[in-house]
Amino acid sequence: MKQAEIIIDGTTYAFPIIEGTEGEKAIDITALRDKTGHITLDVGYQNTGSCLSAITYIDGEKGILRYRGYPIEELAEKSSFTETAHLLVYGHLPSPEERKVFSQRLTENSMIHEEMIRFFDSFPLKAHPMAILSTMVNALTVYYPEFFTVDFESDTFDIMAARLISKIRTIAAYSHKHSIGEPFVYPRHDYPYCTNFLYMMFDSPVHPYEVDPDIEKVLNILLILHADHEQNCSTSTVRLVGSSMVNLYSSICAGICALWGPLHGGANQEVIDMLKNIQKDGMTPKQCMEAAKDRSNSFRLFGFGHRVYKSYDPRAKILKTLCDAMVAKLGVKEPLIDIALELERLALEDEFFREKKLYPNVDFYSGILYRLIGIPTNMYTVMFAIGRLPGWIAQWKEMHDTKPFRIGRPRQIYTGPSLKRYEDE
Ligand code: ACO
Repeated sequence: MKQAEIIIDGTTYAFPIIEGTEGEKAIDITALRDKTGHITLDVGYQNTGSCLSAITYIDGEKGILRYRGYPIEELAEKSSFTETAHLLVYGHLPSPEERKVFSQRLTENSMIHEEMIRFFDSFPLKAHPMAILSTMVNALTVYYPEFFTVDFESDTFDIMAARLISKIRTIAAYSHKHSIGEPFVYPRHDYPYCTNFLYMMFDSPVHPYEVDPDIEKVLNILLILHADHEQNCSTSTVRLVGSSMVNLYSSICAGICALWGPLHGGANQEVIDMLKNIQKDGMTPKQCMEAAKDRSNSFRLFGFGHRVYKSYDPRAKILKTLCDAMVAKLGVKEPLIDIALELERLALEDEFFREKKLYPNVDFYSGILYRLIGIPTNMYTVMFAIGRLPGWIAQWKEMHDTKPFRIGRPRQIYTGPSLKRYEDE
């Protein structure tokens, strides 16, 4: 086995080097503190692997993303969101029998407890749907407390996972209906996942909604592209919170809250707000670029940059093509797309953006696509959460399956005052 050596005050300590299946290398410092009395400091975890994982592979330099080995491009073209969800959670594409069981479980768990529906009455109409989503997901613990202790040998985990994947869609659609003051539309047992969501969102007694198969396809692809992205902020949150042995619903609730931030999943809403502001204020894309480069200004070009991708985000590539197809199909003139394209062109040519390797990320085009398919702006990050859920569940399960199981607990270097006495004040 290869080893790395660390020399501290003239003493050499050896640590094993481990290698992933795609050749990624890490120095295993599990014994560092015991052997040397030192810890490592890595603010923002830029170089820290928190786990071994067999779920998602990313090569940020080459723009590669794979779930359980399958390239994202193939899944976007050939799979459905529920099939991809099965792939992530169970590690393989479903057999016909497994597909039937999984789909049956999703259907059986699609409704929200009638008592729980009354929770919606307490939310103000202007409540952000991400706040409603996180609250309602955590509230599931009240209705299904039998799942506090998960028995991975029985089917409790399977039911719990299906319950969440199915109900999150109903909660999301109901939060939208609540905000516009329309009656809730109950899920249908004969509709597939994305059709059912669109139906619950947009059908109403006075305007029956016909689901357009092209829009359903776009939604499937968007959710597939969101479905996992290894140890990002929200997924690491799900793992860290889950490592305290709290139940799945509460762990996912924490992940939803982490996703909401504008530097993470909240960026898709920020992108559209930014494009609208450019349009409204008569600011040119060039001026916007200059503001993003100005170091005395905290403004960032939302939808650009990524901790891992140092080339074009493969998800953004797929979504850009999809955007063009949707604009052609709908025959709409969407000025925000022209602004977005101009921003992208300027950024790709710009010295600052090239040097810092800032390329469009998934959120740059997902917001535009959600807009094209009629999803309200404040629901964009909710859509991301629906998509990311199978990944969070898969990562939560993998963490529980890892032996030895350890609570997540980083250390710190204390920089506060030395011992003070109360009486000395
Ligand atoms: N616009 C302008 N400058 C940027 C941008 C941007 N979008 N992104 C990074 N930079 C600059 C930073 O100011 C920093 O400059 P400096 O070296 O002079 O200090 C440098 O590029 C490196 O940026 P960091 O913030 O250190 O990179 P990090 O890996 O920590 O952050 C992040 C990644 C948060 C995604 C960042 O690029 C960003 O804020 N982007 C905009 C928000 C966004 O689109 N988020 C969605 C990400 S995808 C997702 O989560 C699903």
